[in-house]
Amino acid sequence: MDKIIINGGKPLKGKICISGAKNAALTLLPCALLTDEPLTLRNLPRLADVDSFGHLLNQLGVSTTVEGAKPDEMGRVMTLRARNIVSTVAPYDIVRKMRASILVLGPLLARAGEATVSLPGGCAIGMRPIDLHLKALEALGAEIEITSGYVRAKAPKGGLTGGTISFPQVSVGATENALMAAVLAKGTTVIENAAREPEITDLAKCLIAMGASIDGLRTDTLTVHGKEKLHGATYAVMADRIEAGSYACAALITGGSLELVGAHKETMPSILSGFVDAGGIVEDTKDGIAVRADGGIKALSVSTAPYPAFPTDMQAQFMSMLALAEGTSLLTETIFENRYMHVPELTRMGADIEVRGRAAIVRGVEKLHGAPVMATDLRASMSLILAGLAAEGTTEVSRIYHLDRGYERLEEKLQAVGADIERISDG
Ligand code: UD1
Repeated sequence: MDKIIINGGKPLKGKICISGAKNAALTLLPCALLTDEPLTLRNLPRLADVDSFGHLLNQLGVSTTVEGAKPDEMGRVMTLRARNIVSTVAPYDIVRKMRASILVLGPLLARAGEATVSLPGGCAIGMRPIDLHLKALEALGAEIEITSGYVRAKAPKGGLTGGTISFPQVSVGATENALMAAVLAKGTTVIENAAREPEITDLAKCLIAMGASIDGLRTDTLTVHGKEKLHGATYAVMADRIEAGSYACAALITGGSLELVGAHKETMPSILSGFVDAGGIVEDTKDGIAVRADGGIKALSVSTAPYPAFPTDMQAQFMSMLALAEGTSLLTETIFENRYMHVPELTRMGADIEVRGRAAIVRGVEKLHGAPVMATDLRASMSLILAGLAAEGTTEVSRIYHLDRGYERLEEKLQAVGADIERISDG
């Protein structure tokens, strides 16, 4: 298995191009199931999860072709076409590796009238049930049965019908499944307490480009007027706000300064306000934003919550940064029940962190020291990379396949701004 070796302590300086958003890509790809015409997605990040999703769609009958991007484009361009759906089954061996596979449920049901998807099960960060996805589809008339570890969903004879979906709790994935099902349902669907993450808006914009009628973008109530058919479209994936936020932390934790080319400030309000509260400086540039340190890191108190509040996907990276702050910080994780797996690893590097239930008390230390550490999930992995970039000495991060799921060309991007980082193969 590959490892990443970092010799820390070098301030990062220069430009990093922000890739297309993983979490947007993973909900835009299944949109291809909603039409028999081609859907071309531009600015797709080169990530293991995107490849896995492509393979899943291939099994369902979607053809995928990757074209060269225009010279000024970074990401990949993929054209997907679901002329005929040849299978409506997402099997266990794919779903267990990539939870986002559950996002084929809504579109398959809407287009083919049925879907069988393996239950994803829990993961490193928590139980992660899918009850909200299923309740949403039931509100559109689907009949759902759970047998032998699989969800089997069936639409009524005439297809799904519009209805009111009122989520008791905000869920990004359930909102996405509901939206993708509702665009082909008969009549009007109202989705209340919908997630407002920018990736949901990206999904809605892509569906609109495919002929869907959706009102209430960026709000917690989405109104969908179902269409009999959708058509093909070309759509560019939004910039990855979590990748941009992670590199902002890299600038501050190393006392450096970075331009994040392509970053969209308006999709990351609480990340940037947290960054500024922690002592960072943010400025607009022609192509994105510039972030830099302004002296030391300041302690702060931050709680994760659905957008526009501070994202759970940035909690681990902020924790690394705050480990080196002057004073004591309080982080509270309200979204996932087990998202502090990076704490013991950061502690091994000299951090002083105490977890009390959902809260983590981070007492700032003067220095972190390099150590061998193990990545446990995607964002936890990035927190270890950040700690390694700031630490004295050598940090060796193992189990880095998590990073390849969500950070495109991580070492290359960091090397280009002065980090001493390399990937080595264990043979
Ligand atoms: C998505 C993101 C993930 C991010 C998360 C929260 C993708 C591919 N993943 O995950 O990176 O951390 O949003 O911003 O976009 N829940 C239920 N029942 C359900 C669904 C969710 O109880 O049916 C709970 C979850 O266990 C969790 C909370 O609701 O505690 C929020 O989860 P959700 O927003 O659904 O996260 P995902 O869509 O899985």
